[in-house]
Amino acid sequence: MLQVEISGIRFKNPVLLASGIMDEQGDSMLRAAREGAGGVVTKSIGLTEREGYQNPTVAVLSTGIINAIGLANPGIENFEDEVRRVKEEKIPVIGSIFGKKEDYAFLARRMENIGVDGVELNLSCPHVKGFGSEIGQDPDAVEDIVKEVKRSVSIPVFAKLTPNITDMLEIAKAASGADALVLINTVRGIAIDIFAKRPVLSNIYGGYSGPGIKPIGVRAVYDVRREMDIPIIGVGGITGWEDAVEYILAGANAVQVGSAIYYRGFSVFREIVDGLETYMKKEGFESIDDFRGMAVMR
Ligand SMILES: Cc1cc2nc3c(=O)[nH]c(=O)nc-3n(C[C@H](O)[C@H](O)[C@H](O)COP(=O)(O)O)c2cc1C
Repeated sequence: MLQVEISGIRFKNPVLLASGIMDEQGDSMLRAAREGAGGVVTKSIGLTEREGYQNPTVAVLSTGIINAIGLANPGIENFEDEVRRVKEEKIPVIGSIFGKKEDYAFLARRMENIGVDGVELNLSCPHVKGFGSEIGQDPDAVEDIVKEVKRSVSIPVFAKLTPNITDMLEIAKAASGADALVLINTVRGIAIDIFAKRPVLSNIYGGYSGPGIKPIGVRAVYDVRREMDIPIIGVGGITGWEDAVEYILAGANAVQVGSAIYYRGFSVFREIVDGLETYMKKEGFESIDDFRGMAVMR
């Protein structure tokens, strides 16, 4: 009933772990897999190891989280073992990558060789200069990267887009060569410590996520779904099954969950999956496709 297929990748349910969440504690992909996630996305991996920014890099706010981790990651060389271990749980693993424009195709091939089921292009990190943000706001760059990666690998390619632009649809159309779109990455923001009287994050700017951004994510999915037929994975502010239903009604084929783990723990996957199933039974839906996009007014 909950199974979904996106460009040939079969997920036992449509609730996936979003990229980069809780990775600083390691093993988050494995935990999510064991707690019922239908699939997992790795943290974004670049060409070489990066330490990321100095602390503080994450602050919990009343309506979400703001982070500027700075794409800290072990580099592709050191990443293989982690992916292999998650693959043992028999759920799809999507390898997320970031880099300079010319790095994406190489990284995607490396991910394919490691054995991931699909690759997610992080074209959207809002707080790391020279990487995702500038690229992700430039439709020509997005189009070129997607084309180049598609030419270079045979596994499905997902393009994760930024909401930090005026026209979501323009970027979505530029990325339409991808097998699916992932909407949205974090929203650029600043949090200020009123007693220290300075920005909370060492990087000043961060990416805002969690409950406060849900309407922005739902709007992005809705706007793109109204105009395009491409598979969409909705992400942003999902903390319960009702939020997942909202995204699906706006047109999402699947969803990803990130910050909710900070608030609710890994059991959030099981709660969302169970809640979705109960909702579908009550409403008489036999598959996700039965109600996907139902709320989109054309
Ligand atoms: C601490 C943290 C680290 C993140 N790291 C990444 C990352 O490496 N790559 C990426 O594409 N998105 C990253 N994201 C963005 C999430 O994958 C997701 O798009 C965003 O947080 C919105 O979903 P949420 O509200 O469920 O958290 C990160 C988010 C957080 C909070």
